[in-house]
Amino acid sequence: MRVDVVTIFPEYLAPLDLSLIGKARRDGILDVHVHDLRDATEDPHRTVDDGPFGGGAGMVMTPQPWAETLDRVVRGGASGNAAVPHLVVPSPGGVPFTQSMARRLAAEPWLAFACGRYEGVDERVYEHAAARMPVSIVSLGDYVLNGGEVAVLAMVEAISRLLPGVVGNAESLVEESHEGGLLEYPVYTRPARWDDAGTLREVPPVLLSGDHGAIAAWRHEQRLRRTAERRPDLLPLSATVGSLAELDVRLATPADAAELLVLQRACWAPEGLASGDWVVPPLAETLEEVRAAVGEWRTYAVRTASRGGGLGRLVASVRGRVRPRDPAVWETARLMVAPDLQGRGLGRELLALSEAAAPASVTTYWLTTGVVAAQNHRFYRRAGYRRAPGEPTYPGAVDLVKPRPG
Ligand code: ADE
Repeated sequence: MRVDVVTIFPEYLAPLDLSLIGKARRDGILDVHVHDLRDATEDPHRTVDDGPFGGGAGMVMTPQPWAETLDRVVRGGASGNAAVPHLVVPSPGGVPFTQSMARRLAAEPWLAFACGRYEGVDERVYEHAAARMPVSIVSLGDYVLNGGEVAVLAMVEAISRLLPGVVGNAESLVEESHEGGLLEYPVYTRPARWDDAGTLREVPPVLLSGDHGAIAAWRHEQRLRRTAERRPDLLPLSATVGSLAELDVRLATPADAAELLVLQRACWAPEGLASGDWVVPPLAETLEEVRAAVGEWRTYAVRTASRGGGLGRLVASVRGRVRPRDPAVWETARLMVAPDLQGRGLGRELLALSEAAAPASVTTYWLTTGVVAAQNHRFYRRAGYRRAPGEPTYPGAVDLVKPRPG
């Protein structure tokens, strides 16, 4: 792969000579050319910036040196069967750089990177470039760096390690964070029992068992748990929840509150009828309380796939949170499935989803259900919950607990 980088700080790219990337260059896998933007200036000060039209803080990079340098890059060499490079412009205002973008870019024969500095590059540079080559404006993350060089180092590393021959053991590319949409499982090496200055730290026993099936299951569960805890936005729900795959599962927003309240009234109505004079909290809850709870709990809203662009029907929900002032307890509540979709395993999957969202501090799952809801008791028993000792949270309720496995 050929890589051209345009910058006003060529020395910034020196790390591309090191480690696996440096070796890939020496092995001829990666052909890197760094260009100094100032070489295309004509004034004695080698100026590349000027004040912004319309006023405002900072300086803007002028178009002429950029246009000349990009044209020079294009003239400088064809790579493979590509006559022009794909130009990547790092910018905090770009589309997010992801592992799948790295994979797509790794399949291209020729990439060029344009490192902006100051307040940005004159917009006409993008027009000039787009008339000649594909252009992608890409952000490393939601923060602002001083310029594109650090972002280019990160992107070139993420891309080039996917090129055949750069990483020795290709298998290690498969089982890592962001492959398969999940974060990586924790890894351990010798010693199996490590005396950390008086504290004994042991490797999870399953890893020493030699049972490859059990190890694979444990690792998958760890990947799910980590992803739910650190990056719930990544959680591919179909990975946890088979029958939810064709439904749309999202974190609820306050805009879902009215539908959540309607569904919860429908789902708890039978319990309300059977419960005599107890107050059944899901029936007593007001719209305002449901709306507030959406902000305080991790609430999942499950809808049927939308048809014709609108929202699908809200058919199920669950909410979970760390118990206030007790980081060891994860409370699950308002587990509900529309009556016409009950009995298909959806509730079980939503319960697993709530449990998977518990942070590492949690050792106990906890929930409460109505004393009269015999069907619920069987359901939670099968899921591993048992009666909690002591008085229930409110009259007519049964509190249930389950130790977090592993
Ligand atoms: N240049 C400045 N900030 C950046 C960011 N967050 N990502 C990519 N390029 C940048």
